[in-house]
Amino acid sequence: MKLTVIGAGYVGLVTAACLADTGNEVMCVEKISSKLATLKKGESPIYEPGLTEVLKKNIASGNIRFTDSIEEGAKFAEAVFLCVGTPQSETGKADLSQVEEAARQIAEVADGYKLIIEKSTVPVNTHRRVKMTLKRYANPNVTFDVASNPEFLREGSALYDFTNPDRIVAGVESERAEAIFREIYKPFAERGFPLLITTPAAAELIKHASNSFLALKISYINMVADLCEKVGADIELVAEGMGYDKRIGRAFLNAGLGYGGSCFPKDIKAFINMANENGVDFSLLEEADYINAARRTKYLAMVEELLWITKEKEICVWGLAFKPNTDDIREAPAIDIVRELAAQGAKLRLCDPKAAENFSRLFPESGQIKYFEDMYAAAEGADAVLLVTEWKEFLEVDAAKLKKIMRLPLVIDGRNAFDPKKMKEQGVEYYSIGR
Ligand code: UDX
Repeated sequence: MKLTVIGAGYVGLVTAACLADTGNEVMCVEKISSKLATLKKGESPIYEPGLTEVLKKNIASGNIRFTDSIEEGAKFAEAVFLCVGTPQSETGKADLSQVEEAARQIAEVADGYKLIIEKSTVPVNTHRRVKMTLKRYANPNVTFDVASNPEFLREGSALYDFTNPDRIVAGVESERAEAIFREIYKPFAERGFPLLITTPAAAELIKHASNSFLALKISYINMVADLCEKVGADIELVAEGMGYDKRIGRAFLNAGLGYGGSCFPKDIKAFINMANENGVDFSLLEEADYINAARRTKYLAMVEELLWITKEKEICVWGLAFKPNTDDIREAPAIDIVRELAAQGAKLRLCDPKAAENFSRLFPESGQIKYFEDMYAAAEGADAVLLVTEWKEFLEVDAAKLKKIMRLPLVIDGRNAFDPKKMKEQGVEYYSIGR
């Protein structure tokens, strides 16, 4: 099929690459010229495992093309995926100006039936606004359908998630739109992945309700971790015990520094806002969001408690990305941690396999802040190692080596990534969360 994808961010680019790889002919529209130039060279502007390879392969086969012309994109295919950004505005509400702009531009040039598909996370009933915009700006002879097809991929495993979805949700209002979805996702349905046809409003809500539920789960386990600390129980054992219950499940019960990234923090606020606007008091989610923010201050208090004075101390931070396998630092706990420790006068030795470059734009290298490619070089002479992101490289730590090279062999693990017993055996003073 011919398909158009508007916006080459995480969701757009992965959608375009994976749908091209499934045998479709995809036109991807990106208006930022530097990003477009990178894409045209067959490179990915973001780090996502496997993405460059899939892009290169599909550019070579002609299955994917890039343009900055929304007109070209709108005319290219009947089905147009909207994957533009929906950032958070100052009020916590989603800023939908990019969605409106794209809908308007498509309307102005559309020369025949179009199925406009919301793939970005948007507030419930955005499809109505999109439809209204299309009608207002389009030639009256042109007909449109608007559908919601939310994306559930996680950064760091985006290609796997897209191609092995727990479910595909398509919220449609016409048989024609449903038929297009059944065609697009036929290869997935044939592999047994469920395709759930709903209304657009339900699909929009499924995305928000799922993300907020997962965020809730994380805040819940973090509070249980705090209780574990007080009573001398191990949160890992508690989470394991809870996880065997199929109704609960072990996933997203990892206690620690809480959630960051471009989705959970923004989406939970947007969902609270959406509920308030509709007269529903969803203070349960406000509490989850509050608990999450407090994880960082609690961790910093722990660092201060253990080091007493942080000024002039050499503090090594392992992990700057908001989670492993990505170079994304949006809402990353490391930002708050580094900012606070730097303000206290600590000397910071930072290390991350992929996110150091992005991080150095916020915190440039200086007399106080140094970047290291090698995790042990970063830890050399340090008074403490703070494990902030659980990259695989860090998990394979040689604790004996760490003890030898640090000034004070102190590890403060914000992700419960290490085995306390092994650390202790090697003479490392080790602290983690809720155990
Ligand atoms: C999330 C959703 O999982 C995905 O379905 C949606 O499409 C986008 O938002 P993402 O933000 O990429 O994906 O990462 P995810 O793996 O979900 O982790 C989100 C955050 O929660 C990370 O900061 C992670 O460190 C944190 N987390 C996750 C925990 O603190 N504990 C856990 O048990 C799981």
